[in-house]
Amino acid sequence: MTSPTKPALLEPEQTVALYDQTGSSVTHLECSMTGERYEAGQLHGLSKVGKPLLVRYNLDKIAASVTREQIEARTGGFWKYREFLPVGSAANVVSLGEVMTPLVPLRNSVPTGTEVIVKDEGRLPTGSFKARGLALAVAMAKELGQSHLAMPTNGNAGAALAAYASYAGMKTTVFCPDDTPEVNIREIELQGAQVFTVNGLINDCGKIVLDGKEAMGWSDISTLKEPYRIEGKKTMGLELAEQFGWQVPDVIFYPTGGGTGLIGMWKAFAELEAMGWIGSKRPRMVAVQSTGCAPIVKAWEDGVEHAPLWENAFTAASGIRVPAAVGDFLILRAVRESGGFAIAVTDEHIMQARDEVARKDGFLLCPEGAATFAAWQSALASGQVGKDERVILFNCATGLKYPMPPISRSLDRHQPIDYGQFK
Ligand SMILES: Cc1ncc(COP(=O)(O)O)c(C=O)c1O
Repeated sequence: MTSPTKPALLEPEQTVALYDQTGSSVTHLECSMTGERYEAGQLHGLSKVGKPLLVRYNLDKIAASVTREQIEARTGGFWKYREFLPVGSAANVVSLGEVMTPLVPLRNSVPTGTEVIVKDEGRLPTGSFKARGLALAVAMAKELGQSHLAMPTNGNAGAALAAYASYAGMKTTVFCPDDTPEVNIREIELQGAQVFTVNGLINDCGKIVLDGKEAMGWSDISTLKEPYRIEGKKTMGLELAEQFGWQVPDVIFYPTGGGTGLIGMWKAFAELEAMGWIGSKRPRMVAVQSTGCAPIVKAWEDGVEHAPLWENAFTAASGIRVPAAVGDFLILRAVRESGGFAIAVTDEHIMQARDEVARKDGFLLCPEGAATFAAWQSALASGQVGKDERVILFNCATGLKYPMPPISRSLDRHQPIDYGQFK
């Protein structure tokens, strides 16, 4: 809004100005397992066979409505890819001031001659890449007339849901495992949700949503159980392609829980290639898990399409503590089709990696991001990744949300200072 005396302030909605000129190019939704078609513009959960639905677009229409140069000229974050997104009306867009997340090459924590670049998703609203998926889920819930959203979460997704839904004027109810980082539980409540801790894992929390949603009138926003979070995560692939001059890196290491980001990026590359915006080269996709919860790694090693539930899941990297992923076969397909691999690292290695990168490069990774660094170190040592390959590591959240080692050093200003102790 402008006034004659005050300088113009860019409203969040203006970052998505012109949205209504293109509208959505969605043609239909499609079962990711059977290919069965579902109508656009209606409320959908999983497909009839219980698998995720994928949004399909008229890619020719998108290609005719926007060019790569026009996209490059736009400022702001993931909403700049609006033609590739399902929201039809600007009135339903929810923006908390997103940015294009930076690519930060590691310098001192990697051997000379290697090219390891962190995509730092911690710069997004609520401090994690969950902003991408949840902004889209909230916008689409709004477009489809929903008012009360519910979800299970390991922390960051709940925070993003709470924030975007509150901004959109919607109610949220969120369930977290009771050992979810305290900061996540508190930020979820503070950002307007009603949050509950549950003495179980994320799948136990998911069951509470599933069992209660009909009676409570909740819209279930669980990972891949509604079709739009993946569209938000897809923007990581669009953004990477743009940042690399409409090319792709050699290898992407992705900390994999539900796998939405990995599946989303794979979808982005397919759409961009179909439009002729990138070539046929694909990055090798690497799914990174912890040895304490590695269902996807086990399924990859066993050569199977579905991952059985991982019993007694444990890892300090709570975002990737997902014992069963509804999109397991989509993660595994992307990993295999790309010529990538799945790899598990110990919690000890994860924490060592976090400390090493922070000390040497001043970059505080979240534990899940640190898992990708640890996995890259292991893969380099075993020859699964070459020294000359351009590698992307996903730091999915700010490291500031996680417990850090305590410091006990202090000085008494009333006593003589021993300057010999300073290094
Ligand atoms: C920091 C962080 N990294 C990775 C993940 C896993 O993401 P995805 O569900 O896309 O596999 C999560 C999910 O909670 C997370 O919070």
